[in-house]
Amino acid sequence: MNTSPATPVMRQHAEVQYAEELAELRRLDSRQRPENWQLSPWAVVRYLMGGTLDNGYEVSPKYIGSPRLMEIAVATLATDRALLLYGVPGTAKSWVSEHLAAAISGNSTLLIQGTAGTSEEQLRYGWNYAQLLAHGPSENALVPSPLMQAMRSGRIARVEELTRIPADVQDSLITVLSEKTLPIPELGSEVQALRGFSVIATANNRDKGVNELSAALKRRFNTVVLPVPASEADEVAIVVKRVAEMGQALQLPAEPPALKEVRRIVQIFRELRNGKTEDGKTQLKSPTSTLSTAEAISVINSGMALAGHFGDGVLRPQDMAAGLIGAVVKDPVQDQLVWSEYLETVVKERAEWKDLYRAFRELD
Ligand SMILES: Nc1ncnc2c1ncn2[C@@H]1O[C@H](COP(=O)(O)OP(=O)(O)OP(=O)(O)O)[C@@H](O)[C@H]1O
Ligand SMILES: [Mg+2]
Repeated sequence: MNTSPATPVMRQHAEVQYAEELAELRRLDSRQRPENWQLSPWAVVRYLMGGTLDNGYEVSPKYIGSPRLMEIAVATLATDRALLLYGVPGTAKSWVSEHLAAAISGNSTLLIQGTAGTSEEQLRYGWNYAQLLAHGPSENALVPSPLMQAMRSGRIARVEELTRIPADVQDSLITVLSEKTLPIPELGSEVQALRGFSVIATANNRDKGVNELSAALKRRFNTVVLPVPASEADEVAIVVKRVAEMGQALQLPAEPPALKEVRRIVQIFRELRNGKTEDGKTQLKSPTSTLSTAEAISVINSGMALAGHFGDGVLRPQDMAAGLIGAVVKDPVQDQLVWSEYLETVVKERAEWKDLYRAFRELD
């Protein structure tokens, strides 16, 4: 059930949190909409990328990066192919999937979380056993999956972490995606997808123990690879924006961090990820951890919680040091070496980073 924006839930669904923006876009949107879409493809991309509408209304950006990628994603959903968002962890795959579903279908909750234990029933349908035993198989005893509900209502279904689902279960998507129908042999019937139905799946390429998609299934998807932010400026912008939004949602009693602190965290993440310093002069080893933008956001959020609850509300290096080391050092031996080397050869040498170096050393 959708809650109103005033209900103090921890996290609102995109369609609730951004209800006003979606309504405003819908009001002004005179372009052609595919059947059962809440907005035209153009307006969906507008919602994702943000910008000023003709009447001066400001739409906030959700995805920071290439608009072309979003256009390709939306155009895919306007055809009969499904969309696969692929990339390293923390590149906003789930985030984009949620906002796409919210903008296109007005509902981002028809969601199946893929795990190694996901079964065919979870993808297709299950049974209410009390009903089944009392009355036999009937429409009433059927428990539709989110996928089936999406087909019935012409909406977007989301499948998170598709490649974690066992291969044989994944393949039950093939009929749904190619024939747009879900047979129910027990009832001698089927559910035919209404127009507007599609699937957005996400998968990341770093996970171990993944089940590659079969060629037959892969062919039903258009893949859009979401990259790590191209420039430092982009990455800083993402972090600043999300930190402010999350700080508000979590009611952290700290000021938004100074831009300088965000820049330093992002720079450390980028240098370690890329294996060289920003000026390109020093080669570095990369840790095993995925230092994604999402991790930078949580390092700063934890720092703000420390500063707000146990400090004076201003984010300082001491508040970030522990979180940052925790994000970098996932393997206590290998990563610790990488980190110590970075600390001593890079952080220590930067005159304007003395406070940061001291904060890290205090923790050792
Ligand atoms: N380019 C970007 N634009 C806007 N937000 C971004 C961007 N990259 C990362 N983020 C932020 O990073 C956070 C994490 O993103 P998300 O959970 O969607 O990652 P993911 O790609 O699904 O990762 P995983 O593979 O671990 O599931 C979100 O809060 C999102 O706002
Ligand atoms: Mg995800």
